[in-house]
Amino acid sequence: MNRARVVGTGAAVPRKVLTNADLEKLVATSDEWITTRTGIKERHIVSEGEKFSDLCTTAADQALKRAHLKPEDLDMILVGTISSDMLFPATSCLVQRNLGATNAACSDLSAACVGFLYGLHMADALIQSNKADNILVVGGEILSRYVDWTDRSTCVLFGDGAGAVVLQATKGDHGILGSLMKSNGCYADFICMPGGGSNRPANDATQIAEKLPYIKMKGNETFKVAVKAMADVTAELLTEQGFTHEQIDLFIPHQANERIINAVGAKLKIAPGKVFKNIERYGNTSAASIPIALDECVREGRIHDGDLILLTAFGSGLVWGSVLLRW
Ligand SMILES: CC(C)(COP(=O)(O)OP(=O)(O)OC[C@H]1O[C@@H](n2cnc3c(N)ncnc32)[C@H](O)[C@@H]1OP(=O)(O)O)[C@@H](O)C(=O)NCCC(=O)NCCS
Repeated sequence: MNRARVVGTGAAVPRKVLTNADLEKLVATSDEWITTRTGIKERHIVSEGEKFSDLCTTAADQALKRAHLKPEDLDMILVGTISSDMLFPATSCLVQRNLGATNAACSDLSAACVGFLYGLHMADALIQSNKADNILVVGGEILSRYVDWTDRSTCVLFGDGAGAVVLQATKGDHGILGSLMKSNGCYADFICMPGGGSNRPANDATQIAEKLPYIKMKGNETFKVAVKAMADVTAELLTEQGFTHEQIDLFIPHQANERIINAVGAKLKIAPGKVFKNIERYGNTSAASIPIALDECVREGRIHDGDLILLTAFGSGLVWGSVLLRW
């Protein structure tokens, strides 16, 4: 059986940094509130003229180079995002054009903060069924363009960025061992952006006044479901694959809120030293949070050959999922 193995990682964030002190000048908030309630100290934010597809291309280019592959070697490009340059065409097509990946089929995946994990899940299925040998999976977001900068309950949370991996078909024991994706559309109104889609299109002049093309979130409700959903799906995946929490070398949960990360780690009984966190520096980068974290861990030497790596994420939909891989 073919396995999908990560053979290259990359990440890119905008140069501009927005600190909690900067946010104190925009809304009625404080560094103390943001730090204690979320764990975030600063986040990277795109400047005017910066494009999402360019961030994705930079991350993808790094991942390809580290994989020692040429753009033409890619069979498929999947981009998990809800903030593409345009509603259509797909960002994956723009990345294909920028890279010169002329042989790749391209598609975007809309699964909010879980977009990257949904990408791994689908790429793994394609590689296992011999439909592709080399797949680029990108997770990225520039939610700063959708944030209501007068709403203190959401504007302090999000940051921009993109991360990428190249998955390659191998025959060995290394690679994705299993993945489980879940969703519950009954919670669709927990995190959403009501404007800009076909229901209330961008050419509907009244929607700005009604504040529709902005992120709306029920923070408390989302928090509770997030902890239980991520812990449950991860425990189910571990059981399905015949592993226990003690065997995990590194746990990388979606970086949405430090309290959520700690609660999920505790529920799964994973030792705090094995739970990765970089939320302090990036905020919630949605679909980018796990591939940025993976790239950081690789570059810092935190991941070693043969390590068992566990990933989990949660986001608007609601959707959630978990991926287990042997590095
Ligand atoms: C958003 C979140 C940080 C809010 O934290 P919380 O502890 O639940 O805070 P609450 O919403 O209960 O608000 C508590 C108080 O802080 C206030 N508050 C909210 N944002 C604030 C801010 N940035 N600065 C200061 N005060 C703030 C509220 O108005 C409220 O005031 P009140 O008690 O006078 O009404 C938290 O609910 C969360 O992280 N939820 C999950 C969201 C998420 O991860 N979404 C993305 C999923 S991918």
